[in-house]
Amino acid sequence: MQHELILILDFGSQYTQLIARRVREQGVYCEIHPFNLSVETIAAKRPKGVILSGGPSSVTDEDAPRVKDTFYSEIDVPLLGICYGMQMVAVDLGGSNEPAMRREYGRAKLKVLSGRTALFEGLPFELDVWMSHGDHVTNVPSGFEITATTGEVITAIENPERGIYCVQFHPEVSHTPLGKEILRNFLFNICGCTGDWTPASFIKEEVERVRETVGPTGKVVCGLSGGVDSTVAAVLVHEAIGDRQTCIFVNNGLLRYREFEDTLEVYETNLHLNVRGVDASQEFYSALSGSFEPEQKRKIIGAKFIDIFDAEAKTVGGAKWLVQGTLYPDVIESVSLRGTSVTIKSHHNVGGLPEKMDLGLIEPLRELFKDEVRAIGRDLGIPELILERHPFPGPGLGVRILGDITPEKVELLQKADKIFVEELHNFDLYNDVWQAFTVLLPIQSVGVMGDFRTYEKTVAVRAVTSTDGMTADWARLPHDFLAKVSSRITSEVRGVNRVVYDISSKPPSTIEWE
Ligand code: XMP
Repeated sequence: MQHELILILDFGSQYTQLIARRVREQGVYCEIHPFNLSVETIAAKRPKGVILSGGPSSVTDEDAPRVKDTFYSEIDVPLLGICYGMQMVAVDLGGSNEPAMRREYGRAKLKVLSGRTALFEGLPFELDVWMSHGDHVTNVPSGFEITATTGEVITAIENPERGIYCVQFHPEVSHTPLGKEILRNFLFNICGCTGDWTPASFIKEEVERVRETVGPTGKVVCGLSGGVDSTVAAVLVHEAIGDRQTCIFVNNGLLRYREFEDTLEVYETNLHLNVRGVDASQEFYSALSGSFEPEQKRKIIGAKFIDIFDAEAKTVGGAKWLVQGTLYPDVIESVSLRGTSVTIKSHHNVGGLPEKMDLGLIEPLRELFKDEVRAIGRDLGIPELILERHPFPGPGLGVRILGDITPEKVELLQKADKIFVEELHNFDLYNDVWQAFTVLLPIQSVGVMGDFRTYEKTVAVRAVTSTDGMTADWARLPHDFLAKVSSRITSEVRGVNRVVYDISSKPPSTIEWE
């Protein structure tokens, strides 16, 4: 079924994905594409409307990103220009734009000037909005009228005959409290969308698509990690083809306390997946023995995983497809206006798996954002234990044991981590943080126990708040809570006599310690 579609052209704004999520929250499917998508491709997709995102450039820059020359004449569906998108539309259609004396950043009061504008229909004449711009529009193109201002600044313009609407502020961020209504007006009143996209319809269509791809007798393999993405992908595919999917869950010996056993039980008993648990802990420990360097450890863990998964998958016989829980943010073609970004860590630990195994890919979640995957997971009956679990890196505790890895250190860290997570639940703090874990430091320090002097290990406790892991702030957890965690770890985990709390944010630190 062809759904109503909104296209978002990305000019490099940090908020582009947020625009997409806001649109989808209204039940309207949308896609993000680079700003220079060809006009023919845009037309062929038959969108109900196009949104032009913000971006860091100035329209006056020589190499500023622009739509193709024929864009305005060929694309005859409604347009919404946001921030940079507004400035570009104004200049392209004969208006002008100038750098402001100072950058306007933060909250502003917007005054709607016209009572007739469809974009602000049903809204008060004064609204709080969020601004973040250097340039602003100084002359509007002919045929356009100014519909809102914030003091001196022209904040919204439109040409309803041509279906073009522009705002200088960001309706997609939560600091614009009525932004949702503004986007709703654009989608429903102006573009004529009805909102025909829901998680339930997604599941139904995706199940159908997987069935068609795999055919009536085809077999697939799926790597489970215990995380949300791979679990939801596996359950969807199970709905489609049942036990013709073989799931493989590898224990690399670097999972959390009892995670392998407990998750396997959920896969088998609650979700009825056809799953094989492969406990390869010892093989990983042997391969890692004597390695201290973080990137080297990551590479060893990644390579070993591929070997073990591949060997197990071969015993399935006749599988032609590999299921992966790839999400939309991994496949959006990103617009890098600031040069190529530097790889800080090799996060894609198992990249190369499909190539090595010569399998086709099934990625049922590749159009979805994480929160949508969770919603679908809920509809599919996946337990909260899996849906709400904090993100966990592929190399697991391997990057939380600084220096070399031994089974004894893993056991110690698993115990400390279990206490931390248990207490987060007890204090009802688990869902307030993005990620929380313990780190085993490669140092010993002096302590006392009774009449004895001890010389033992230090555990660092790390908890951060974040929305996407790209930036993060250390969590301001209550002192009483930290006291409880510290006293339990030092008394219950043999070999630890000191607990420290990490108060670093990202940047300049990273979330993980390695
Ligand atoms: P950093 O430490 O780079 O982490 O601030 C950002 C997010 O990525 C996770 N992370 C990884 N995930 N393989 C993964 O699958 C890795 O090697 C890896 N290193 C970090 C980290 O847990 C956080 O959520």
